[in-house]
Amino acid sequence: MADEKKRLLTGLQSSGQLHIGNYLGALKRFVGAYADYESMLMVADLHALTSVKNPAQLREGIIDVVADYIAVGVDPTKATIFKQSDVLEHPELAWIFECLVTVPFLQQAHAFKDKVAKGLEANAGLFNYPMLMAADILLYDTDVVPVGEDQRQHIEYAREAAAKFNLAYGDTFKEPKEMILEGVGTVPGVDGKKMSKSYGNTIPLFGTDEAIRVAVMSIKTDSTAVGAPLNPTTDITFQLHQHFTPNLAEIQKRYMDGTIGYKESKELLAHNIIATIAPMRERRAALSREAVIQILKDGAEVARARAQAKMKDVREKIGVGLY
Ligand code: ADP
Ligand code: TRP
Repeated sequence: MADEKKRLLTGLQSSGQLHIGNYLGALKRFVGAYADYESMLMVADLHALTSVKNPAQLREGIIDVVADYIAVGVDPTKATIFKQSDVLEHPELAWIFECLVTVPFLQQAHAFKDKVAKGLEANAGLFNYPMLMAADILLYDTDVVPVGEDQRQHIEYAREAAAKFNLAYGDTFKEPKEMILEGVGTVPGVDGKKMSKSYGNTIPLFGTDEAIRVAVMSIKTDSTAVGAPLNPTTDITFQLHQHFTPNLAEIQKRYMDGTIGYKESKELLAHNIIATIAPMRERRAALSREAVIQILKDGAEVARARAQAKMKDVREKIGVGLY
């Protein structure tokens, strides 16, 4: 029965063009997990506002996050997809939590400390960021929160906010657990370092066939002569084959026999990446902006109804709900 399913919620900030590292490390795992839960996928546009000051960029970022997730296989009829700014109960509850936690507690947040250490402007939104995230999670009685390792502390903050509220006003919020997405390890970029948009070494997820081919052909290799055996353990192309190539054992054998060269290996890899991605790209292209907007509108209604019911209880408990 649907009611017996545990609740899952995650929030996503738009972070520009996705690469295959994002897909293998985060999106694919999420797609594999969300249908077992009553899932909510939230676009964290108010969180994005702590750094994005360009309205057009924020707007496109929202649409892109939704389109990306639908393209990789999230079924909008199986998950509630909505954006944070459509449910005003999020900032309302964040404020209530902010009145329960101390400044030194928030000063310990790694994400905040990192930004300050980098000399970035520490706006008050960034400082309060963990309490808005706690509100996102706690409003919906969430059981599990799939996130990357870097968000672990934020989930601890959410548990702390729940505990503080429950202690002050009585049992109201469930303490959520993080579901740390791991497994594929670090996907290497074309230069062998972690694939990351900040290193400019990515293979784009939704690029054209040509863009994918160009990126794959630029993968760094050593100067082993054609016909000599290649070492699959150290070769970057082979590491990527592991995620995209069905007949891996055969390729491995050809590496060791010296019957495949880097050029052929890369061509094969590009072909297999394109074959994996093509259906996703088609789904993305078939999805109109209007369809994305409709998904967000429908999701907002579902989220709002749940959030409002929860906040009625919260308002009564804290003493502002008179009527
Ligand atoms: P980037 O390093 O390109 O800025 P993000 O930090 O926005 O990527 O990553 C978003 C998510 O994608 C991370 O939480 C992580 O799980 C996943 N991810 C990013 N790069 C990789 C990679 N090279 N290998 C595996 N997973 C990755
Ligand atoms: N802070 C998260 C990130 O940058 C995004 C986020 C916002 C989130 N609200 C959330 C994640 C609630 C999980 C649950 O990745």
